[in-house]
Amino acid sequence: MTTLTPPPSTYSFPGKSIASEGIDSLFAQVVEAASLPSGQSRSCPAGVYTSPEFLDFETRSIFRREWISLAHVSQVPEPGDYLRVDLCGEPMLVTRGKDGIVRVLSRVCRHRGMDLMPEGGSLPDQGNQRVILCPYHLWSYDLNGRMLGAPEMQQAEGFDRSEVCLHEFRSEIWEGFVFVTLNDEAPPLAEKFSRLHRDYLAKWNMGEARLVWDQHWDCGFNWKILLENFMEAYHHLGAHRKTLEPFLPAKGCWTVPEDPDFSAMHLPLRPDLVETIRSTGDAGTTMTPFPGLGVEDYTEWWVFLGYPTFLLFTAPDRVYWYRLLPTGPETCSLTTTMLVHPATMEREDYAELHEKEVEAAVNFHLEDMEVCAATQNGMRSSAYEPGRLSHLEEPIWLFQRYLAAKIREQA
Ligand code: FES
Ligand SMILES: [Fe+2]
Repeated sequence: MTTLTPPPSTYSFPGKSIASEGIDSLFAQVVEAASLPSGQSRSCPAGVYTSPEFLDFETRSIFRREWISLAHVSQVPEPGDYLRVDLCGEPMLVTRGKDGIVRVLSRVCRHRGMDLMPEGGSLPDQGNQRVILCPYHLWSYDLNGRMLGAPEMQQAEGFDRSEVCLHEFRSEIWEGFVFVTLNDEAPPLAEKFSRLHRDYLAKWNMGEARLVWDQHWDCGFNWKILLENFMEAYHHLGAHRKTLEPFLPAKGCWTVPEDPDFSAMHLPLRPDLVETIRSTGDAGTTMTPFPGLGVEDYTEWWVFLGYPTFLLFTAPDRVYWYRLLPTGPETCSLTTTMLVHPATMEREDYAELHEKEVEAAVNFHLEDMEVCAATQNGMRSSAYEPGRLSHLEEPIWLFQRYLAAKIREQA
């Protein structure tokens, strides 16, 4: 596992008193940038990527309000499987219970509130357990969240362990991805992402896909630095000039019309590759293409962003899904993954293919990590000021418009 070490952070999520000097000016600058026509767009002010107050706003208005993708169901295929995740200070566990149901449970013990699986504890971040045991006083729970036992509680009057269970957060499985929201009023995902599904994602049928690779990165940059990098193909020219640019040239990319819930960009293959695919009908991929796709779909890759952080980079034969969570104003936790169709895993040469594709994925992700960390350096400099954007960065401007809408909503 490759890990980038973030700079030390003393930030705490809202609840602490934090001076708010300057935040209104920052909000006004984002709203102003977002209101420019796309041809006049420019990057955001540095405070958007460094300010604790701006992260407070995002935590309240985005991460505690919206649907956040945490896992793919193929990561928890068996009863007892779990995956540990922290969403802006909320310790969570994605589990598959004995009843086969996937839930998002709180890791806060119902006794005196200890995190049941603290970072660096004895259990790995992902695994299979019949019982979750609180290390503090040994209260225990099953993977459905129900209490199994609590020692020496016979004198606690009226204590009925059958009434005790871990808090369950509102969750949904959409296209095979497990989403959570802390907002009871958030519209269901089938409604929120109906157009994203109908017009774009349905043909991959990602609920059937298998997650075959994941890698965690502790990143020393703001979560939006990564998101913006992910959503624009302009950087293929520089950062990925040896890896992606030779077959996915930045020049041909284009963005679909604005939607309040998502953005999407076409990344057509190099023109001669497109011609070969059209004339042979062969996808020319190393792995097996998703069966719902047709020849035209073989001619391009895509990047999708379901707001705020559902990030997909798709090819005909694989989907890279990112789990992105802020951990501070200048740090984030990123898990990069790759999903394939089960037919790929049945191939005789699968082990070899897997090794080769993971190596390629790590290589281009390292290129992204390098430029993102260096961009965060720029955000700390007194010399930085917003710069003009290329038409190949239109999704950045669209995301500014999403942020501006959230700023206006809270005003
Ligand atoms: S806090 Fe968990 S058993 Fe006491
Ligand atoms: Fe990239």
